[in-house]
Amino acid sequence: MRVLSGIQPTGEIHLGNYLGAVKRWVELQNTHECLFPIVDLHALTQSQNPKTFRSQVMEKAAELLALGVNPETSVLFIQSSVREHTELAWIFNTITPVGELERMTQFKDKSAKSKNINMGLMDYPVLMAADILLYQTDLVPVGQDQTQHLELTRETARRFNSLYGKTFKEPKGLLAKEGAKIMSLKDPSKKMSKSDGPSSYLSMFEDALSVKKKVMAAVTDTGKNIQYDPNKKPGISNLLTIYAILKGVSILKAESQFADADYSSFKKAVADLLLTTIEPFAKKKQELLSRELYVQEILERGGQHASSIAQGTMQNVRSKVGLS
Ligand code: TYM
Repeated sequence: MRVLSGIQPTGEIHLGNYLGAVKRWVELQNTHECLFPIVDLHALTQSQNPKTFRSQVMEKAAELLALGVNPETSVLFIQSSVREHTELAWIFNTITPVGELERMTQFKDKSAKSKNINMGLMDYPVLMAADILLYQTDLVPVGQDQTQHLELTRETARRFNSLYGKTFKEPKGLLAKEGAKIMSLKDPSKKMSKSDGPSSYLSMFEDALSVKKKVMAAVTDTGKNIQYDPNKKPGISNLLTIYAILKGVSILKAESQFADADYSSFKKAVADLLLTTIEPFAKKKQELLSRELYVQEILERGGQHASSIAQGTMQNVRSKVGLS
């Protein structure tokens, strides 16, 4: 079974990215063939500083390795180093109705917030479909916010196959039972995201003082019971979810552990658990950042491996559509 999942290189990896995606990549790599592209071309849909962009990509690779991506068993690579991603995206563009892209909620959200509504932003899910289908992927572990994009990917595979004959596998999304949608600390009705300012998210590499401050200041609900009820108590439920996943227990168990606790002692326990979880990650990241050549080599090797698979698929696609 082949697994593929990507992450954008902008901003530090936050707790939502980790619990919704990266932690599960690390678990899957022991039992599955895994490919993890750092999707730099997707990040270009928002304006980036060309002077620092490349080093952000390198930093993202160091972060993923620090969080446990194993370069001996997984293929970690930079999306733009495998040219077939954009070539396949173009072919997919020619069979994707514009109306389907206009309906994507992420496109609507992003274009409502941004002044820079470029074609890339609209085409983002088509490139994502190319990332996935290029490798005949079986499983795609992502957060809940990517479900619609995955449905488009499956539809793209079906459409191409029916137009040109069976070429692509239809991949399945793999959503975490818990943690597929980690909410913002500032506004627990919204998902945790880098775009909502630093008080809404926790970086996996955040310093101890800041972790404590953010968790203690996390918006919670009226009342004083530690109860899992996402509708009535979204703030407490979010913190319970985070606690339970990091502790490796069920939400029910976490809830009963804090049956007699008040908000403040519960939050302190969440902050302490977060700190012990992330402490080794920051150390490892620093160590990897000082070994740039090592990280570069991993990415190059990953790019070569990914290319060898991608080239096979593209050769077939070119012949199917009559380009060769
Ligand atoms: P990105 O970098 O925005 O997010 C990376 C992963 O983190 C998940 N995620 C969350 N999960 C739970 N709670 C949250 N609050 C939260 N916020 C983010 C995302 O669902 C994602 O899995 N479009 C992708 C990048 C991509 C991709 C791909 C993914 C490009 N090509 C091919 C899979 C396969 C994205 O959202 O990246």
